[in-house]
Amino acid sequence: MAQIHVMDHPLILHKLSLMRDRQTGVKEFREATREIAMLMCYEATRDLPLKEINIETPLAHAKARVISGKKIAFVPILRAGLGMIDGMLELIPAAKVGHLGLYRDPDTLKPVEYYAKLPVDIAERDVIVIDPMVATGGSAAEAISALKKRGVKHIKLMCLLSTQEGLDVVQKEHPDVEIFTAAIDPELNEHGYIVPGLGDAGDRIFGTK
Ligand code: URA
Repeated sequence: MAQIHVMDHPLILHKLSLMRDRQTGVKEFREATREIAMLMCYEATRDLPLKEINIETPLAHAKARVISGKKIAFVPILRAGLGMIDGMLELIPAAKVGHLGLYRDPDTLKPVEYYAKLPVDIAERDVIVIDPMVATGGSAAEAISALKKRGVKHIKLMCLLSTQEGLDVVQKEHPDVEIFTAAIDPELNEHGYIVPGLGDAGDRIFGTK
């Protein structure tokens, strides 16, 4: 079973508390989302392979290590996932970005894909799926399945908040996927919201409520 990383760095927890606070406005919420995404991206890419190159410093010849051209794609799940993309692109500006949209079928309550626009070479890329709120885990698991169907082999999942229940669903369906979450909250309410959580992440990022 791949690991779950709870990223309880003080900077992340501080910014997350700001996001949880109902008094926090759209601007600050967006900024905190971007900053946490950047901090989490730093950790989620810790295993990027390096290669050695030769350079000249002002003083001498040196061997230096640089990232070895690994092909990466970020795939935010619409719409809240978009809030994390800018922070991640600041660290890895050459990453390609795909988008996946899922809605919940009212009869089956299962997530159904309604939009997919992915890099043409997605199967050759390491993909980080971005789903800020892993509540039931249904959307994240479905998004990962959708990528695997398109041939993607290496997938990580990044979220802000999750529930153990949601993480269990993802891990059961996708034991190979490493998960990065800033916190695991204790409850899921009857409307599928994470409690205490931070509310509807999409509404708070885009100011739609
Ligand atoms: N999606 C959200 O935006 N918030 C939740 O609490 C659960 C799912």
